[in-house]
Amino acid sequence: MDPEIQIDELSRKIEHYNFRYYQDSVSEISDFEFDQLLKQLAALENKYPEFKKSDSPTQRVGGTVTKNFVPVFHRYPMLSLDNTYNEQELRNFDDRVRKGLEGEEYEYICELKFDGISLSFTYENGVLVRGITRGDGTRGDDITHNVKTIRSLPLRVNAKNLPPDFEIRGEGFMPYTSFQKLNDEMDTLGENQYANPRNAASGSFKLQDSAETARRNLDCYLYSFISDDNHFKSHEESLLGLKTWGFNVSPGWRKVQNIDEAIAFIHEWETKRASLPLATDGIVLKINSFEQQRELGFTAKSPRWAISFKYKAENKPAILRSVNFQVGRTGAITPVANLCDINERDLPYNKVKGVHLSGTRVKRATLHNANEIERLDIQIGDTVFVEKSGEIIPKITGVDISQRIEFLTEPVVFPKKCPECGSELIRNEGEVAFLCPNDSHCPPQLKGRIEHFIHRKAMNIESLGEGKIQLLFDTNLVRTPADLYDLTYEKLLGLEKNIVNEETGKLKKISFREKTVENILKGLELSKTVPFKNVMFGLGIRFVGATVAEKLAIYFKSIEAISSATYDQLIAVPEIGGRIAKSIESYFSVPENQEMIERLRLAGIQMESDEKPVVAESDLLEGKTFVISGVFENFDRDELKNKIEVNGGRILSGVSAKLNYLLAGENMGPSKLEKARRLGVTILSEEEFLAMIAK
Ligand code: IVH
Repeated sequence: MDPEIQIDELSRKIEHYNFRYYQDSVSEISDFEFDQLLKQLAALENKYPEFKKSDSPTQRVGGTVTKNFVPVFHRYPMLSLDNTYNEQELRNFDDRVRKGLEGEEYEYICELKFDGISLSFTYENGVLVRGITRGDGTRGDDITHNVKTIRSLPLRVNAKNLPPDFEIRGEGFMPYTSFQKLNDEMDTLGENQYANPRNAASGSFKLQDSAETARRNLDCYLYSFISDDNHFKSHEESLLGLKTWGFNVSPGWRKVQNIDEAIAFIHEWETKRASLPLATDGIVLKINSFEQQRELGFTAKSPRWAISFKYKAENKPAILRSVNFQVGRTGAITPVANLCDINERDLPYNKVKGVHLSGTRVKRATLHNANEIERLDIQIGDTVFVEKSGEIIPKITGVDISQRIEFLTEPVVFPKKCPECGSELIRNEGEVAFLCPNDSHCPPQLKGRIEHFIHRKAMNIESLGEGKIQLLFDTNLVRTPADLYDLTYEKLLGLEKNIVNEETGKLKKISFREKTVENILKGLELSKTVPFKNVMFGLGIRFVGATVAEKLAIYFKSIEAISSATYDQLIAVPEIGGRIAKSIESYFSVPENQEMIERLRLAGIQMESDEKPVVAESDLLEGKTFVISGVFENFDRDELKNKIEVNGGRILSGVSAKLNYLLAGENMGPSKLEKARRLGVTILSEEEFLAMIAK
């Protein structure tokens, strides 16, 4: 048979089974048979790459590696929702809606608010062409390869009356079971665990290797449809329509006639949501009619026709069993509560599972600092209340004094000496934290700095994590971030160690076999390409977070300039105050730090910012939008993008009626060109573009 036809037929067959599985929950064939078909298709595509399509089901298993995700503008900004926390605020919202609609009848759609990350998908002629993260709402990252691994997301929609192009938005998430499995795996491999399913989803959608994304079992619920041709009249119609087109529409929604019915929906889900397989943090109310949505419009940040109601964080009683004093990378001492469920008070601590809170079991919670312990008047043995505040680390919100039995509880005593290295603790004037001053030798500080260095927002070394760093540290191979770059295959291969997981008390074995070692070295090599701002953050200078690091990198452009900047020069940078400036000065005055930076430089780490200065050249393209397609003679795509932006123009992600110019190079896709013609978009050649900015 003609390989092209064969590929086509096989693709359709696989997508059919996939559709049946995800839309109708019917397995027409076994997982094994399904995988065999996929393998067959992959083999054919390998042999005849010219017939491989962008919507091939083999895309779902991933395999592409993206070095840098390209930022793209959203065609329509991705706004957020106004939040409410009680019924009164909700009723106030309803009053505003009623006023805004001047006596018209209206209906709401109530939806669950799933806690993941918002994603936007663009379909052209029924084919999924782009997946973008929300980013800052105006511009997100192109993560198309990774979103294609979502099994329930159609790569192609076969339906009559499909708009030629449309955008769908929804929530990408990781179900609790996948989250637990992933974290267990990360733990065994000695890699960092994710704090919650949302972070896990976000991190997994931004992995460079899409095969790894595919493995992580991400999913997405769709809740919004946008097209230029007013395809549906109401939100309800769009949800039903999307469903028939094969989309995984966000489940559980209901149409209601008034705010009382909406509030009833909220009450109903308050407890029911605990049994869902994924995290939810509230509900969303949306005006059903699109016409009325348009009437109500938007504020700068959010629609006036929708609102979210956030459930209160779940709060449960627990028993405070003991307190650990942890030393962070900056030397600050954080008291951490060890907790158990009230039914577990007689169990030895290593048998304790913890309190059930929003889908996970919690055994530890932060107590922040000495002042907080005093404020709460908390004692070991007390019954306390814990909650997960939507944020990462659970916290203790209070003590149930009525449960205290005086002679069975004992005060929490804050140590005078560092629990790790024995140094006398200090407290800087005006700061609440006690500090261990031994920053050059105290082990958790050294280790913490290496952990910080490999962080996603710093050097982003995915192949290293807490357990592996512990091993490298304990074997004395790595004491500072610079030591990482002296690691070799020979030094790493065969290293192993049993490490106790502090959380579970379980023993795990970390061992460096061929594959692990290769991955570590690959990760280190790749980290040499991360931009200077990440390096600046990775150094772990006190008070220099990711945002400050970026500001410094943009402003000073190189580590030399930053390290030799005076206090006055530092505070001249917008948003950099005295506290940060002092901390930077003091960091660079330490000879060990200077030496380590020199070693990092020699290893090939970026010590200069190569970001093009965002200096405007002109406003000739002010308010104009562009899509770039094809290959150009005088510029590569990034240069061209930069050229457009420095002249005031904006890059859009796809051709639509709103687009001003399609900048067409050699070999551009005929469908884009055709579409631009159809929509009356001006098509520019490279010469015409040059003439435009030469004016
Ligand atoms: S509608 C213009 N519907 O909540 C508003 N958002 O705070 C568009 N979310 O960024 C959002 N479930 O990530 C909408 N059923 C739902 C949602 C939902 C979760 C998230 C979404 C959005 C955030 C808004």
